[in-house]
Amino acid sequence: MHISVIGTGYVGLVTGACFAEFGMYVTCVDNVEEKIAELQEGRVSIHEPGLPELVAKNLREGRLSFTTDAAKAIEQSLVVFIAVGTPARADGAADLRYIDEVADTIGQCMQDYKVIATKSTVPVGTAMRIKERIRAVQRQPVAFSVVSNPEFLREGSAIEDFMRPNRVVIGAEDPHAIAIMKELYSPLYLIETPFVITDILTAEMIKYAANAFLAMKISFINEIATLCDAVGADVHDVAKGIGLDQRIGRKFLHPGPGYGGSCFPKDVQGLIHFAREAGVELELAPAVDRVNRQQRQRMVHKILGALEGTVAGKTIGVLGLSFKPNTDDIRESPALDIVAALLAQGAHVKAYDPAAMPAARRVLPDVEYCPDAYAVCKGSDAVVLLTEWNQFRALDLQRIRALLAQPVMVDLRNVYEPETMQRLGFRYVAVGRRGAFRPPLPGMPQPAT
Ligand code: UGA
Repeated sequence: MHISVIGTGYVGLVTGACFAEFGMYVTCVDNVEEKIAELQEGRVSIHEPGLPELVAKNLREGRLSFTTDAAKAIEQSLVVFIAVGTPARADGAADLRYIDEVADTIGQCMQDYKVIATKSTVPVGTAMRIKERIRAVQRQPVAFSVVSNPEFLREGSAIEDFMRPNRVVIGAEDPHAIAIMKELYSPLYLIETPFVITDILTAEMIKYAANAFLAMKISFINEIATLCDAVGADVHDVAKGIGLDQRIGRKFLHPGPGYGGSCFPKDVQGLIHFAREAGVELELAPAVDRVNRQQRQRMVHKILGALEGTVAGKTIGVLGLSFKPNTDDIRESPALDIVAALLAQGAHVKAYDPAAMPAARRVLPDVEYCPDAYAVCKGSDAVVLLTEWNQFRALDLQRIRALLAQPVMVDLRNVYEPETMQRLGFRYVAVGRRGAFRPPLPGMPQPAT
């Protein structure tokens, strides 16, 4: 089957490469010529494990191609995926400008039946909007179906998530489109992937509900971690103790500096916004967002507390800047807000990230960027672990302690064990951990130890 994917950003490129790997003939389309020229040569600028190899393999085997010629790609395809960006506007609503542009292009060049599937995260009702736009611009009436086929890919493990998904969601209006979509995903029948076949609005809703629920789990455990710090309990044991209840589940209960990335913050806001437009004032989603913002502030206070209340004139070493490991993505990364707050309070910040430094340099030019974790620690008054890259899980702690001006580690990803760190002579601050040093936070009672 010939398909095309419009938009070669993160979602589009992973989708295109993975469908090619499933045996489809895929044309990926973008209007940025340099990007397409690079991709035609197999050069992938997105940091995603396994993606460059998958692109190169499928290019070589002739199932994947790249073009700026949307009309031609659409003409040759039975299914057209829309995977363009839907950035958040200042008021939190999704900006559908790029979706509208693509819908118009599809409508103008469509000559025979097509399935138009949205992959981008779009507000409930967008597929219908696409349908109307296509109808309005068609030169002659041609039959087509719109489908919502949301993605559930995590950055850093997107290929695995595509190849072995927990489920595939297809929202469609007609059985013909459903049959075509199922055929696209037919390799997944071998691994018994569940399919959720539903109407379009519900499929769009599933995506927002899934992300908001996951964000809620994180904000929930972060609040519990704050409470653990206040009363002297251990959040890891709490997460395990509740997570073993299969109704709750163990995943996404890891406390930290709050969720970031291009999805959760934007999608929680998006949900609040379109609920409001539908006349529904949500209670939980705004609280999830609020707790997430507070969490970043709390982490700044933790760092201050670890250093007797001030960072002014001190040097703080930072490990990790991306919003999570295995990506160079710094969008909405908690590390950025935390570093910016430290700089604003007069700290000198040294930082290292295995992938995100080029991006971070553009937004945080006043940071001293270092070649590795040890250079960060040299002479610093504290080291703050902000992203749990694997290489930060196995640091030579004795060496780190010797390099630091003061043996202070603020581990905001709870990578290390408090007992070990204490034994090694660190003042070790973590998030809701028993045995860690728990500095008092503003507005909170004196923590139990
Ligand atoms: C998220 C979802 O997990 C994907 O299913 C979804 O497809 C994607 O958004 C999207 O909508 O496109 P992603 O943003 O790549 O994926 O990253 P996650 O691995 O979900 O992590 C998001 C944030 O939550 C990170 O900042 C991470 O550090 C944080 N997190 C995650 C925690 O603080 N604790 C946890 O237990 C889990």
